[in-house]
Amino acid sequence: MPTTLITGASSGLGAEMARQLAARGQDLALCARRTERLEGLREEILAANPGRRVELRALDVLDDAAVFEVFHAFRADFGTIDRVVINAGLGKGAPLGTGRYDANRQTAMTNFVAALAQTEAAMEVFRAQKRGHLVMISSVTAMRGMRKTITTYAATKAGVASLAEGVRHEMLSEPDLDIRVSTIYPGYIRSEMNERVKHTPFMVDTEVGVRAMVEAIEKEKANALVPTWPWVPLGKAIRHLPLPLVRKLL
Ligand SMILES: NC(=O)c1ccc[n+]([C@@H]2O[C@H](COP(=O)([O-])OP(=O)(O)OC[C@H]3O[C@@H](n4cnc5c(N)ncnc54)[C@H](OP(=O)(O)O)[C@@H]3O)[C@@H](O)[C@H]2O)c1
Repeated sequence: MPTTLITGASSGLGAEMARQLAARGQDLALCARRTERLEGLREEILAANPGRRVELRALDVLDDAAVFEVFHAFRADFGTIDRVVINAGLGKGAPLGTGRYDANRQTAMTNFVAALAQTEAAMEVFRAQKRGHLVMISSVTAMRGMRKTITTYAATKAGVASLAEGVRHEMLSEPDLDIRVSTIYPGYIRSEMNERVKHTPFMVDTEVGVRAMVEAIEKEKANALVPTWPWVPLGKAIRHLPLPLVRKLL
């Protein structure tokens, strides 16, 4: 059975990707800081899919050494890790220069620097196996510089998308390695990150949004805005319209 490693699997999109990939017949390597949540999720997944294998490890992605240890330990558990989904993320932030460097820094470290560590660790595993599928969870906010509380968040999501494309670019000159790279740009999908956000247009529930993510991941799309409607046309508009018009959309 193919094995997928998911970081940030204790809630929201990560937990739902685990449920849906298990239902499609995949074994899972799941990590996050809240291990009691992971244990509950494993019980639920095994009850619904008795034949599956689900291994768990505690991981704070800000601990560089632990990222490498945990990824290699999962590979030792399963022999092969077919796919790594870099999903752990944080949505804290404030407009720049308003006294919340701490929140913006924490978001930058979690969403970009820790994603770099996860990409390094995943690529070590994939290079050793000579194959694998790297999945980067970016965001539609990566399409453009954003304002208010999401300026830093959007910059990290543009950063990880560029990192993933850089790996894809690198792989063009490594024909002996079968390493594919997907970048997923979710629109607004209900999760703990946005549970207090009230009137967001186009918000879909977790199961529906993650179904679109999983479809794109399973097709190994290079880039996917999900759900397709309205985010494919809206994403194009956000990328190309003048900022005063973008301001009206997001
Ligand atoms: N929901 C959306 O609308 C949306 C849209 C675009 C992109 N995204 C992206 O989707 C990903 C998942 O977010 P979500 O919406 O599912 O939010 P969520 O429910 O808040 O989940 C975030 C996950 O990240 C983990 N995490 C956070 N900091 C971590 C750390 N230092 N070490 C290890 N794990 C950490 C959390 O686990 P622990 O706290 O247990 O460690 C949790 O499992 C994020 O990258 C987010 O930016 C979400």
